[in-house]
Amino acid sequence: MTEPKIALGTWAWGDTASNRYFGDTLSAASLKPVVTAGMAHGFTLWDTAYAYGQGTAENLVGELLAPYPRESYQLSTKFTPRMAGTGDHEMADMLAGSLRRLRTDYVDLYWIHNPDDVEKWTPELIPLVQSGKVKRVGVSNHNLAQIKRANEILGKAGIQISAVQNHFSLLYRSSERAGIIDYCQEHHITFYAYMVLEQGALTGHYDVDHPLPAGSERAKVYNAALPQLTKLTAAMKAIGERQNASIAEVATAYALAKGTTPIIGVTKEKYIASELRAEKVSLTPAEISQLENLAAQTQVDTKGFWEAPMV
Ligand SMILES: NC(=O)c1ccc[n+]([C@@H]2O[C@H](COP(=O)([O-])OP(=O)(O)OC[C@H]3O[C@@H](n4cnc5c(N)ncnc54)[C@H](OP(=O)(O)O)[C@@H]3O)[C@@H](O)[C@H]2O)c1
Repeated sequence: MTEPKIALGTWAWGDTASNRYFGDTLSAASLKPVVTAGMAHGFTLWDTAYAYGQGTAENLVGELLAPYPRESYQLSTKFTPRMAGTGDHEMADMLAGSLRRLRTDYVDLYWIHNPDDVEKWTPELIPLVQSGKVKRVGVSNHNLAQIKRANEILGKAGIQISAVQNHFSLLYRSSERAGIIDYCQEHHITFYAYMVLEQGALTGHYDVDHPLPAGSERAKVYNAALPQLTKLTAAMKAIGERQNASIAEVATAYALAKGTTPIIGVTKEKYIASELRAEKVSLTPAEISQLENLAAQTQVDTKGFWEAPMV
């Protein structure tokens, strides 16, 4: 199966009444149209993690994709070292839980979520690939040295990293500056860009007069920065209007233009049509550098609390 140009993310699906990162609790009924539209339009790669609501997002992904033939979609989920216990088979155990919730006997992509201990965790991927429960492996939030080291460890078993998943957006380009995107392109590794829309701050939906949902974690991160984003989002709007595209679609087109595969967190059916339009938006080199300059001028740092600097 070919990899879609845009993957769909499900972190927001993990929100629960007690854990309001995004500020909306999504139900299977509200997400069903998202999955139906996504699958109908070729968005067949679904990114999730046990960490998203301690299995809540994986359960929803498993339930909503169950009616489709398994070979018609790809599942991407993660081992999160920070959630591991002290047993001898922590990665295999976390994967077993994910497989159960996702209602499958294999995942297409399995990630190490954070580089907490590359020497300890990377070798644990090897038996999972050999067993067939994991088709391809990736590393997330790893810097260039950690990516290379993980590849060295896996290489001894004849396995290569097929993907890297890091934060990348107009406002957060540290993987580009660190040479990770170039390294991936040179080594046929897919670079998956997450938080391309900065969790809504780069969509135009939220601004000074319409802040992110009160009480949510993302509001705490982004609301204070919204005034600094005004000029940037105005330029994105103007560029988008020339092609009938929204601010969010320009943000996605930017990540595509940089040779990455964006993972877009989808919460509403209409966002599928939006991502289809984003695939058709073309940005000129002058538009890209205008947006990059304005983004740099915002001086907003959107590094997630779980991330380490890449350079
Ligand atoms: N590996 C990691 O450490 C890591 C970290 C972060 C994310 N991820 C992955 O990357 C995915 C994407 O990141 P994210 O979900 O945090 O943030 P994101 O993709 O930057 O933003 C998602 C939010 O933007 C809004 N949105 C989505 N599509 C839109 C569109 N077409 N037009 C307007 N608004 C739109 C929605 O907010 P509303 O619902 O408020 O409209 C949605 O919740 C995650 O779901 C997850 O799979 C991985």
